[in-house]
Amino acid sequence: MSIEQLAETAQAMVAAGKGIIAIDESNNTIKKRFDGVGIADSEENRRAYRELLLTTPKLGDYISGAILYDETIRQSTKAGVPFTKVMLDNGIIPGIKVDKGPQPLAGFPGEVVTEGLDGLRERLQEYYKLGARFAKWRAVINIGDDIPSGTCIEANSHALARYAALCQEAGLVPMVEPEVIMDGAHDIETCYEVSEVVLRSLFDALYQQSVMLEGTILKASMVLPGKDSGEQASVEEVAESTLMCLKSTVPAILPGIVFLSGGQSDEDATAHLDAMNRMGPNPWPLSFSYGRAMQSAALKLWSQDLVNNVGKAQQTVFARARDNGLAALGQWSQSS
Ligand code: 13P
Repeated sequence: MSIEQLAETAQAMVAAGKGIIAIDESNNTIKKRFDGVGIADSEENRRAYRELLLTTPKLGDYISGAILYDETIRQSTKAGVPFTKVMLDNGIIPGIKVDKGPQPLAGFPGEVVTEGLDGLRERLQEYYKLGARFAKWRAVINIGDDIPSGTCIEANSHALARYAALCQEAGLVPMVEPEVIMDGAHDIETCYEVSEVVLRSLFDALYQQSVMLEGTILKASMVLPGKDSGEQASVEEVAESTLMCLKSTVPAILPGIVFLSGGQSDEDATAHLDAMNRMGPNPWPLSFSYGRAMQSAALKLWSQDLVNNVGKAQQTVFARARDNGLAALGQWSQSS
């Protein structure tokens, strides 16, 4: 795979006014989301729900790509059309979550390291054949008393960089996601300091593993006060802190940065992205790769009537995609 092709895919993922929908919940996570709204967790319900999302009319107007889970990339619509074909027909690039989730880091209580490197080369080759053109690997960094440790940060950066190199070898754009978790009582300054150290470590590891940044996308968390801190940061403060942190750590050659929503409200996730783009020009396109902030409202609506609420739920997905697409241009307003 040439770097030109990887760079082309990466640029298409962050095309102006477009972003990514993350629908790559593992079977454990989607069960939690379904339990939360009273939907039975069955393979058919998971398939039907992903069909609802991926067949949303005009989704491709604001969505450049969707991240799928291993089960989902092999599924089809009720009418038998593979999801990957539905996506390509709507101009949506198929992506795939390839990590195997965080596991406790031995010797470091409260910290985790993401697993999934064993056999990854073969899995990536299969996903490429199934139509995937980008992949995602999420590292989880918790903030608490005396954590994160340098060991945890380095172990996760090393795994992210090895994953990224394998992706590029297989022709997939790596989306590297070091998520600094919002849970905890820490203040926004602590989140800033941790995010800065994590990003410096990640880009150092990517350099060590010869990863081509032109064909890589960063999925970043925003700089926020901890959920239990009692601190309220303004939209401007979050946007300024996040931008300052990214500008001081992320090389300008990267094709783009997308954010996760991480438990923020739908409106906060959109408002923060919009504010950062209004503060531009920035060195890279800044867009979204939201899971919960794209889906929560639609999932709730669908749960009320799995047969008759499909259209209404799709309208909600479209509205979230449009709002976030406008925010990616710095053109969103609360009333739009
Ligand atoms: P949230 O936007 O719900 O945080 O999910 C995005 C994601 O893909 C996390 O890996």
